Amino acid sequence: MSLLELDGVSASYGHADVLHGVSFVLPDNGATGLLGANGAGKTTTLRAISGMVRTTGRIVFDGRDITGLGPDRTAALGIAHVPEGRGTLGQLSVRENLLVGAYRRRDRKQIAVDVDYCLDLFPNLRERVGSNAAALSGGEQQMLAVARAFMAKPRVMLLDEASLGLAPSTARRVYDAVVRLRREAQVAMVVVEQNANLAFSVVDDATVLETGRVALQGSSAELLGMDAVRRAYLGG
Ligand SMILES: Nc1ncnc2c1ncn2[C@@H]1O[C@H](COP(=O)(O)OP(=O)(O)OP(=O)(O)O)[C@@H](O)[C@H]1O
Ligand SMILES: [Mg+2]
Repeated sequence: MSLLELDGVSASYGHADVLHGVSFVLPDNGATGLLGANGAGKTTTLRAISGMVRTTGRIVFDGRDITGLGPDRTAALGIAHVPEGRGTLGQLSVRENLLVGAYRRRDRKQIAVDVDYCLDLFPNLRERVGSNAAALSGGEQQMLAVARAFMAKPRVMLLDEASLGLAPSTARRVYDAVVRLRREAQVAMVVVEQNANLAFSVVDDATVLETGRVALQGSSAELLGMDAVRRAYLGG
């Protein structure tokens, strides 16, 4: 059964139509990638799913039409958007940021268990658990953004360029944690990445967008076998 399905989704900012009939399916516990050049519409696709942009077509999550529902309601249904630029709360500590992520939950004991799981996932954060988020490095802030999203106990995480601006080893650590969240916590993933090596380490399949349209779709193995994909996204 599919967890998330986009069917002919178009989206616009004011009078600017930027997505044109994007469709893909994410199975339960699946992980799918969105690739494409700058401005192709990757971020807008995630915004369409979480309800942050005017959208037509149909988006179905867990059997329910969520097209145009709005970010609060999609979040309440179990969609956690980790935006470009991270958006951690700088004046709050690492621990407080994690608790903010869990604000809809009432299962206090399990929240404590999950905070500990996040600190296990990201040992860097355990060392900084009392520090203000503003004092963290870029990599640590990205880790916190992923961990905070997990604290909502989402069914699916929408990850937008989690590697942006990070050293390769730090980006790898973030993605290792993403792989664990998928495997251990059964969080499905929609992964937007410019770094296709990182994306393909997580996803089973991917959609390549070009100026707001689907240009290619296939399994990771199929896409990795295409010269054009290798040239565009893997540097050869
Ligand atoms: N708030 C906005 N208002 C108007 N146009 C926007 C807005 N945000 C994005 N766009 C336009 O929509 C198109 C798709 O942008 P989007 O941010 O989805 O691309 P992207 O694939 O995420 O690119 P990048 O890799 O640079 O993050 C671009 O032409 C962009 O200029
Ligand atoms: Mg983007």
